[in-house]
Amino acid sequence: MARKRLIAANWKMNKTIKESISFINNFKKLIEKNNDIVICPSFTSLYEASRLLKNSYIKLGAQNMHYKEKGAFTGEVSAIMLKDVGCEYVILGHSERRLYFKETNELINKKIKAALKNNLKIILCIGETLEQRENNETNNIIKNQINTCLKNIKDMKNIIVAYEPIWAIGTGKNATPKQAEEVHKFIRGLLSGLYDKNIGKSTRIIYGGSVNAKNMKDLMEMENIDGALVGGASLDPKSFAEICNTKI
Ligand code: PGA
Repeated sequence: MARKRLIAANWKMNKTIKESISFINNFKKLIEKNNDIVICPSFTSLYEASRLLKNSYIKLGAQNMHYKEKGAFTGEVSAIMLKDVGCEYVILGHSERRLYFKETNELINKKIKAALKNNLKIILCIGETLEQRENNETNNIIKNQINTCLKNIKDMKNIIVAYEPIWAIGTGKNATPKQAEEVHKFIRGLLSGLYDKNIGKSTRIIYGGSVNAKNMKDLMEMENIDGALVGGASLDPKSFAEICNTKI
């Protein structure tokens, strides 16, 4: 089964509403329709972005959510609210959430369940630190992240895995296509074991970490890399469009 490429922009804590509108208007003119494209602005820009992306094939995503549907959780946003504002996707388990906000695999597992219940598609981020890689712990870390984040989750249809080696995020130091491919293949094997061969084959596994218009093609030529999660290089409409329009 051919896996359709998915390219997502993670704007992180960047862009005012005005800046988001300007990006989307420019980006729409530059983009060629051939991949699944998702833009994940900050919460404050979601409403306007949703309005602008209505009837467009570019989809909207959020960068995080709480696992409860509502209640006394000051400062949090729920899956119901994300659906309400027009999100189709949500990024969960990003390494910055794990590092700065102490998110654990167990918490991410709860969030995944809540997102699935509310029909959101999930971009689940996993990846190792430099220290873990140097200590040859990459596979163990990845295995533990996959097993715990996906515990008791039966259906992988709406889950995309994003392999993001932490040492490659925002550093300009991307994993080589070969390094990324090795881990993507390993993840596919894990999914085959956890579910079945078909799910192993059909789940999209995208790469993230210093992706740009220059390294995109080489990364995407790898058999098991099905797209990209792009941070820094997604903030400029021209550069993100170039990444999305890369011919493989
Ligand atoms: P980067 O970020 O492209 O700036 O390395 C990727 C990410 O954190 O998703």
